[in-house]
Amino acid sequence: MKFFVDTANLDQIKEAKDFGILDGVTTNPSLMAKEGIAGAKAVEDHYKAICEIVDGDVSAEVISTNFQGIIDEGEYLASLAPNIVVKVPMIKDGVKALSYFAGKGIRTNCTLVFSAGQAILAAKAGATYLSPFIGRVDDTSWDGIQLISDIAEIYAIQGYETEILAASIRNAKHIVDAAKAGADVVTCPLSSILGLLKHPLTDIGLAKFLADHAKANG
Ligand code: G3P
Repeated sequence: MKFFVDTANLDQIKEAKDFGILDGVTTNPSLMAKEGIAGAKAVEDHYKAICEIVDGDVSAEVISTNFQGIIDEGEYLASLAPNIVVKVPMIKDGVKALSYFAGKGIRTNCTLVFSAGQAILAAKAGATYLSPFIGRVDDTSWDGIQLISDIAEIYAIQGYETEILAASIRNAKHIVDAAKAGADVVTCPLSSILGLLKHPLTDIGLAKFLADHAKANG
């Protein structure tokens, strides 16, 4: 399973890369706004900066919601760097655009996915990645991990090649559960990835090893 970080923060992206586990980055308009990135030139420069740090795929989301706007914006974003993946919302014109981009060899990430039906449509349209939002499904008292599991089962039966990119991950347990449910990729804040490190018995065991070593060695 690949690990992407879900952030537009360059320091976090560098830290994830230094940690040695970074396969890619996803962004969205909210994450760009959080970093104070506004205006076409700033957005362009920021995506270029991310792509200089990361060798893997970098999802850049379109703002347009009509077919021609999505195409124009997506082609522009894809031209910024070879590892840009165009992130397209799960709406009617978005699905049409996924199909257009697939025909042009432009890779895509279909975002804002909350049902298995939407997942089938995106795969039929040729999306490279599919982003079901685990945390936001859980927020509505439904089961985000069950959604990943259902999509993985359908994609395996149907032979769809779209990769399941589990998004809206809120904690380390979501990562473990998404891996078990068949996600190809998880995208999450660095804090959730670092959460995988934590276990009290590791800390207790290490302290004991170091204490015993110190005792034996004076
Ligand atoms: O990038 C999409 C998704 O990961 C957003 O997560 O935490 O805002 O629901 P969240």
